[in-house]
Amino acid sequence: MKKLISLLIVAFMTMGASLAEGALVTYFSHTGENYNVGVIEEGNTAKLAKVIAEQTGADLFEIVPVVDYPQSYDECLEAATAEQREGARPEYVGDVENWDQYDTIFIGYPIWWGEIPNIVYTFMENHDFAGKTVIPFNTHEGSGQAHSQRDIENALPDATVLHGLAVRGATAQNDADATAKAVSDWLSGLGM
Ligand SMILES: Cc1cc2nc3c(=O)[nH]c(=O)nc-3n(C[C@H](O)[C@H](O)[C@H](O)COP(=O)(O)O)c2cc1C
Repeated sequence: MKKLISLLIVAFMTMGASLAEGALVTYFSHTGENYNVGVIEEGNTAKLAKVIAEQTGADLFEIVPVVDYPQSYDECLEAATAEQREGARPEYVGDVENWDQYDTIFIGYPIWWGEIPNIVYTFMENHDFAGKTVIPFNTHEGSGQAHSQRDIENALPDATVLHGLAVRGATAQNDADATAKAVSDWLSGLGM
């Protein structure tokens, strides 16, 4: 019996270690003026991404636009409208090193006009997701996930997409305890 318990402990430890080594949290997040939170130096989704990385031991990769979005909220709304209308694929700086080493990819974004920002599509189209497990997460100010869960499933047909987490932007920005709890509840629901 003792031997069995030790074996199980080792098995669980190995599972934990393999998630930490094989998991990546990638996200896009906008700083500057935003709805409900004023002018912020770290984006709401960035804060959420860091909590997920901390709780899972995953690596982090931020999708940073080559051409910055406007700092002003109204101008950012206009920029998002324009890129959605044009189906733009904005470029980002650098890329993930050692993509093949990751089998679990968390993908984070704010909801923009009910959609995933176009730059996140640039990222998804730049990588091979065959055989990967993808876990979406997002911040918003009322839309929840909108239809982004389905959009990711459609964009990444070769991946297994698990159920995502949506957190209010203002909560991610200002309430670390509530954010940590939302993340841990969600991760346990996913069996992590
Ligand atoms: C261009 C733009 C469009 C937005 N559209 C929506 C929306 O349709 N639904 C919603 O709930 N929130 C919307 N928001 C609010 C953001 O989703 C929310 O503030 C989010 O937490 C921002 O995350 P970030 O700081 O990581 O960029 C919008 C914000 C911006 C800047």
